[in-house]
Amino acid sequence: MFRVRKAVIPVAGFGTRFLPATKSTPKEMLPIVDKPIIQFIVEEAVSSGIETIIFITGRHKRAIEDYFDYTPELEFTLKKAGKDEHVEKIREISNMADFVYVRQKEQLGLGHAILSAEHVVGNEPFAVLLGDELIINDEKPALKQLIDVFNRFSKSVIGTMKVSKEETNKYGIVDGMEVEENIKLVKYLVEKPSPEEAPSTDAIIGRYILTPKIFDMLKKTPFGKGGEIQLTDALLNLLNYEVIYSTEMEGRRYDTGNKYGYLEAIFEIALEREDTSDFVKSIIKRLNERIDIKS
Ligand code: G1P
Repeated sequence: MFRVRKAVIPVAGFGTRFLPATKSTPKEMLPIVDKPIIQFIVEEAVSSGIETIIFITGRHKRAIEDYFDYTPELEFTLKKAGKDEHVEKIREISNMADFVYVRQKEQLGLGHAILSAEHVVGNEPFAVLLGDELIINDEKPALKQLIDVFNRFSKSVIGTMKVSKEETNKYGIVDGMEVEENIKLVKYLVEKPSPEEAPSTDAIIGRYILTPKIFDMLKKTPFGKGGEIQLTDALLNLLNYEVIYSTEMEGRRYDTGNKYGYLEAIFEIALEREDTSDFVKSIIKRLNERIDIKS
């Protein structure tokens, strides 16, 4: 039986919702306090057992490659200044996994991005993590929750979370039949349906384990919602050949792809960090007083 060793992380998107910041900085490099969003995603993958990270990149994403590479000049300067703990910290980032970069020459959708990884993934199951969704679970990373299901059934597994009915048009929606506690056999999938059309409120939250058969499906997938090649459509087609499972992931989720989710993540994560917790509490207290005065 195959083990899930590789993860594909598409990072070619423009990040228009974060302009002007993303004019010259990849959205994945925006920090939550002092750690870029992409590092949270890579750490989730690595702590779930992933050994190779395949980034699907595009133009203007060089900063991501540099970030996961060694930085000898910086290390030299830090060492000279006696800041050895920083040297270790930045070295660890490059040593977390093997990093592979595939350039997606044109952005034709998530499905197209995944298909660009075919020659690196080969004929084995692999994970997909989308960088916009940050899922924090210190006990069991979100991706590990999916890998555990995969290890039992050796079939594709889609991570879901419940959303409100009004929000279904922002996500791929999965309809399934519960076969055991928190494991559903997928019956149908649809990309961003209107609340009226949505068959359920189980939304795809950017975590997947896919069998390599998905590549054959992606090659045949026509342009779908938004004029893009959709992974959801390819998964629907995959149902004709293989069963697919879904599982509801546990963890705190932040949609860091928009400024509200991003702000929420910064506040909550900073509140929990030992070095920033007291400071955040004092700001909240001060702001709270200001809000009280105004209202
Ligand atoms: C993509 C997927 C969608 C999924 C979402 C999760 O959409 O196509 O099925 O629910 O990610 O974030 P996007 O947000 O890239 O439009």
